[in-house]
Amino acid sequence: MTRIAVLPCDGAGKEVVPEAIKVLRAAGADFEFQEYDVNADQYMRTGEPIPPSTWTELQLADSILFGAVGDPRVNDSAYLAGVLLRLRFELDLYVNLRPARLYDDRLSPLRREDRRAIDLLIVRENTEGLYVGMGGRFKAGTEDEVAIQEDLNTHLGVTRIIDYAFGAARREVVMVDKSNAMTHAGALWQERWKAVAKRHPEVKTRHLYVDAAAMQLVRDPTQFEVIVTGNLFGDILSDLTAELIGGMGIAPSGNVNPETKRGLFEPVHGTAPDIAGKGIVNPIGAILSASMMVRHLGHTEMAGAIEGAVRSAIRDGECTRDLGGALSTSEVGDAVVRRLRD
Ligand code: NAI
Ligand code: MG
Repeated sequence: MTRIAVLPCDGAGKEVVPEAIKVLRAAGADFEFQEYDVNADQYMRTGEPIPPSTWTELQLADSILFGAVGDPRVNDSAYLAGVLLRLRFELDLYVNLRPARLYDDRLSPLRREDRRAIDLLIVRENTEGLYVGMGGRFKAGTEDEVAIQEDLNTHLGVTRIIDYAFGAARREVVMVDKSNAMTHAGALWQERWKAVAKRHPEVKTRHLYVDAAAMQLVRDPTQFEVIVTGNLFGDILSDLTAELIGGMGIAPSGNVNPETKRGLFEPVHGTAPDIAGKGIVNPIGAILSASMMVRHLGHTEMAGAIEGAVRSAIRDGECTRDLGGALSTSEVGDAVVRRLRD
């Protein structure tokens, strides 16, 4: 029996994850779902982002279905780091997959008739870079303060993420860095990029500096198939690409380790404190993340069926207000479920 650990966590996460599970069940997923108490209330009570007994079980799960972490009452970076970053780093989920596929032209500010569809994938390095938390503050709080944030890049880490990107592409991989200004890390990325590209002569390659990549994504997002980049740039560019396909409510992601097959799947969005708790958050990002999860677990047809049902609901205008509809969170889940049953 496939065991899925469920971590809705906080705010919007608590509303969208049940919809994703509802859709998985309707799609015929015969999984055991085990939900864990990892959230801001638990953290404020115990001071422990993930209780040790829960951690042990999360390591044993076949996959993790995740909502979002963050709470206005906890303005302490140790909470986010202790939940999401810990899971990514310690389970070595080094590939962060952030696809941006446009399901309906009306959702994009940039789609044009004369272009092919937007359907790209950002492959973001997920365990290194500026997010590892190395560095510190010296003379904190004084006018002499020095703050250092280290950008960690390893031969192994850079090689394996670029390698994964080639495996995911049919046509072209674009590598994005800032090697003209960040010369040490940039040189390593450039060297590994050239070395790995040689092993994949069937795939076209292109390199862009991150500023130029941002520009090109707005100029014509349909030119891209697979973009591979570091942790920080991947985080930023994937918010941009989310907006190109309908916004934060719709963008899915997966954090995976291709060797151990471990994975954590989550909508790109956060806890949306401005709209959480009103039954209006869009569950599509979470539902599409669940379809990425079943694809990762080998259920390709089921993943396709969920994506087809989502596309149909969106095209029929059965969506939440951020996509121009009038349905509630759970009504959107129902609209997708109905199409899976039809
Ligand atoms: P956010 O993604 O929560 O919200 C950004 C904007 O997108 C807001 O206007 C929100 O209403 C909208 N939005 C987000 N999800 C939506 C949905 N499902 N349907 C419709 N609209 C949606 O990002 P923000 O405001 O920067 O962060 C809020 C909290 O979430 C913070 O505590 C932050 O640390 C946390 N966060 C957690 C993430 C995670 O768990 N992976 C990722 C990003 C933020
Ligand atoms: Mg982000």
